[in-house]
Amino acid sequence: MLPKGSPKSAEGSKEEAVAEYIRVASLAEVPEGELRGFELAGGRIAVAHVENELFALGDECTHEGCLLSEGEVDESADTVVCACHGSAFDLRTGEPVEGPAQDPVPTFPVRLVEGWIELVPIAAGGDG
Ligand code: FES
Repeated sequence: MLPKGSPKSAEGSKEEAVAEYIRVASLAEVPEGELRGFELAGGRIAVAHVENELFALGDECTHEGCLLSEGEVDESADTVVCACHGSAFDLRTGEPVEGPAQDPVPTFPVRLVEGWIELVPIAAGGDG
């Protein structure tokens, strides 16, 4: 007889392996050299706009939880500096490059689509 299991459309595919980008703001809301915090379903995410590049990181400082979006972008160092005690985090990796914070903040995939900032609100990878 014919083998069973001919390919059919897999219904109820629960695992979405493909990262889903969601639209969070227009680029105009995050001017060059600035960062903004966004409240998303999975938590707060800060988006920084530096030299035509976008970065998305967890908005909570790992030191004492201040909002990084209330801090500043250091464009020369590609870091975000926490307003509370001056911890600096690498925009690309989320790693602290200056204390007192010792733990990294998560980073998120982010892209620009026709003037809209879109990001995947799931932390990108872990430690390599
Ligand atoms: S809370 Fe950010 S440096 Fe202390």
